[in-house]
Amino acid sequence: MPDIVFESVTFSYNDKVLDDLSLEINRGEFVAIVGANGSGKTTFARHINALLQPQLGMVLTVGLDTRDPDNLFTIRSHAGMVFQNPNTQMVASVVADDVAFGPENLNVQPPALQQRVKQALDTVAMSSHAEDDPAELSGGQRQRVSIAGILAMQPDILVLDEPGAMLDVRGRRGIRRIISELNQTGMTIVLITHFMEEAALAGRVIVLDQGKVALDGPPAEVFSEANVLRQLGLDLPFSSLLAEALSAQGFAIPESISLDDLKELICSWFSMQ
Ligand SMILES: Nc1ncnc2c1ncn2[C@@H]1O[C@H](COP(=O)(O)OP(=O)(O)O)[C@@H](O)[C@H]1O
Ligand SMILES: [Mg+2]
Repeated sequence: MPDIVFESVTFSYNDKVLDDLSLEINRGEFVAIVGANGSGKTTFARHINALLQPQLGMVLTVGLDTRDPDNLFTIRSHAGMVFQNPNTQMVASVVADDVAFGPENLNVQPPALQQRVKQALDTVAMSSHAEDDPAELSGGQRQRVSIAGILAMQPDILVLDEPGAMLDVRGRRGIRRIISELNQTGMTIVLITHFMEEAALAGRVIVLDQGKVALDGPPAEVFSEANVLRQLGLDLPFSSLLAEALSAQGFAIPESISLDDLKELICSWFSMQ
């Protein structure tokens, strides 16, 4: 059973935002969602944990229909959402209390509650700030605390909607490391991002265009579609730009190549000389 199923999902505000969208995401996958502004990424994310329901079609999260109000509590305890702006997610004036808020709402009692808070703060490397005021933290630290608040609910799925958009390079690097580590523990990750280097770290990249899937595949495959991506107004990761530039100079570069393989290829040229 896949963790997330979209079956012919259509959703409109005024205009159509999700257009007959079908896709499945399996347990343990790390999927990056990219697409131009307005392509429907946030609307897609909000359907996963039933903040929005499809007007046509069906969304199943951990096998549960998001349209059934009886499923909301279970769905939201299985699928956690991290938003762009960490400030809007802070509810308490002490970091540890903030992280405890989610599990408290799931009715987790002490001492399990403190245990979960501690573990979540350890995971995001924020234990030493447990007693601090979130207002005194950097943006990156605040975003890590928001992630800890979700982790303390022990979700199976973590959906992050441009978590690094308001952070500096260092802040983003911290979030990236946490995401990769969580995925290695088997958590399903859906990462919406407009940083292509970040998307290239995922196991699968889905490109949305006007609420439809334009491309879906491993990063090396998706990022070899330079023309399609440019037409959609998207950047290319550095590895794709480099592969393209080398091809243009007459170097033999395979059609779709991962960053690691490209590095190896270039190194092999130097060692041959
Ligand atoms: N609450 C809303 N009310 C009306 N229109 C909205 C609302 N939220 C988003 N939209 C519109 O829906 C479209 C898709 O938005 P969104 O899912 O946020 O795209 P993305 O996250 O890819 O930028 C945009 O044209 C946006 O203006
Ligand atoms: Mg968005």
